[in-house]
Amino acid sequence: MGLYTKDSIERVKEAVDMVELVGARTDLRRVGSRWTGLCPFHDERTPSFSVDGERGFYHCFGCGESGDAIGFVEAIEGLTFKEAVESLADRYGVELKLEQEDPRAEEERRRRERLLKLIERTAAYYERVLWEAPEAAHAREYLAGRGLAEEVLRTYRVGYSPSAWDKILMAAQRDGFSREELLAAGLAQQNRNGQVYDRFRSRIMFPLSDARGRVLGFGARMLGEGRGPKYLNTSENSIYHKGRQLFGIHQARAAAASAGRIVAVEGYTDVLALHQAGIREAVAIMGTALTNDQLAELRRAAPIAYFALDADRAGQEAMLRAGHMAKERDLELLVVQLPEGRDPAELVAESGSEAFGKLLDRALTIAEFEVRRVLAAADLGTPRGRDRALEEIRPIVAGVPPRTATRDELIRLVADRLDIDGSYVMTADSRPRPQAQDAPQARARRPLAPLDAVARSERMFLSMCVGSELGKEYLERLERAHFSYEPLWRVREHLLHHWDDPLIALPDDDESFLVLIKDVVLRAENDDVSADVLRLTFLQLDLARVNRGLRTAEQAQDFEVQRTLAKDRQRLRDQIDELMRVTL
Ligand code: UTP
Ligand code: MN
Repeated sequence: MGLYTKDSIERVKEAVDMVELVGARTDLRRVGSRWTGLCPFHDERTPSFSVDGERGFYHCFGCGESGDAIGFVEAIEGLTFKEAVESLADRYGVELKLEQEDPRAEEERRRRERLLKLIERTAAYYERVLWEAPEAAHAREYLAGRGLAEEVLRTYRVGYSPSAWDKILMAAQRDGFSREELLAAGLAQQNRNGQVYDRFRSRIMFPLSDARGRVLGFGARMLGEGRGPKYLNTSENSIYHKGRQLFGIHQARAAAASAGRIVAVEGYTDVLALHQAGIREAVAIMGTALTNDQLAELRRAAPIAYFALDADRAGQEAMLRAGHMAKERDLELLVVQLPEGRDPAELVAESGSEAFGKLLDRALTIAEFEVRRVLAAADLGTPRGRDRALEEIRPIVAGVPPRTATRDELIRLVADRLDIDGSYVMTADSRPRPQAQDAPQARARRPLAPLDAVARSERMFLSMCVGSELGKEYLERLERAHFSYEPLWRVREHLLHHWDDPLIALPDDDESFLVLIKDVVLRAENDDVSADVLRLTFLQLDLARVNRGLRTAEQAQDFEVQRTLAKDRQRLRDQIDELMRVTL
């Protein structure tokens, strides 16, 4: 899976100025050998966030977030471990080395890097053409006329492709790129006579980049009523796959991570208009054909996705499909209902950003969206029509967890609209539709969702254990109940059984578990974690365990257990306070 060597990861960590990195997100003040400030991961008024600049660690004594430079970038920008390493390496100029690369793979990587370079310089060229070339004047006017200011256009690196047939071809060849590379990058194409020419001409260029901002391809909009499709995309190639792209993901990432939500729309201009209106966590799925890859990418950016697709049939059906796909990935999906005939760009242009904000606030759960669709299509005038609607609605309602306000509200809506007693909506034999539940094997093999803050601190602790002399002792003390996230408990078992060499005897039938173990081991610090920090982190995990136990006992009204756990909680809090006075 292309791992970077431990040594290069170490060099990245050494190169990072932790105080500068964190200081860009929250003001830090020096206190002794450490720096403190308000935690960027949770709301607080008094600082409980501490940074150890020398050893490259941060820790929040309030919410428990902790880690090194890589963990910080991961959490704050919503990147994977690998992406965070790459982004820091870029930023601090460290060259990354891959673990045992075979010559073929290395050659392939070199070629890929050259193609990326070619695409990047072309994107930069299109940008210059948009702002400087006389032939792009009408494009500038057109974009301005749609209410898009220079700033947002520059943020998304929008450009313009000149009308000539060979501008890109000539310039790139002059600088040593081959025709074959131009074709492979999707920038040129070949006609039947074997002539090669620029693919994009006289179009507004929307660059499509990956999460880190590397441009992989383009969507290109025609101006006015010319020949050819309104949008021409880079054709599928080794680098660009339309079904994996989300337009604007790079620009949306940080905003989505901090807002805890991402907004999915259909078009490029929708994203630009929303960004300009202050909704920066917006991305486009580029039409209505949502893919599983796109859904996974949305899930990586945030746990909740607001879908604001057009109110036409294609848009509505896409949201329904998306709703079912999302259930398999524990992504919470909400449906934003746009007024008929308006896309988000038009809505914001006409009614301002508040209008869109209100629609977001009123977004529907998938179940409510489905029920409303059935009601809208039903013949409510006859008892038979209402019965048919009821039959369609029951399994939808049954899929909503019982004893929740959402379900209650739904039942009331149905009872009200069908003019029946609420108890008719749910009967004993109402079962959720089978498709709502996934097969057990599918569950076991599905890729891991990004970890939440609690699971991240559990993972961090396992890494600390791997990197410490005392680690084995702590691993032995951990119980199943210390983990909110079951796969990490399995990692603990593995680490304990293979303490001397944690990367042997790895399971070869469970890719996601493998990734998790490697992640834990690679994050392990080479230098010894101090005994105090290890103990403090353990106490916090223990406190989280006790708090979870308390919640369960409260729900079960088990007063005996509540009393015991409350005492444990007090004892743990005292120990943590005590220790913090020593370490802070
Ligand atoms: P729309 O036709 O709604 O375009 O397609 P739009 O974004 O509103 O563009 P304007 O407002 O007319 O400028 C929605 C999205 O579907 C993708 C594009 O990403 C577009 O933004 N699309 C559409 C294509 O990729 N190819 C097409 O031929 C059409
Ligand atoms: Mn549109």
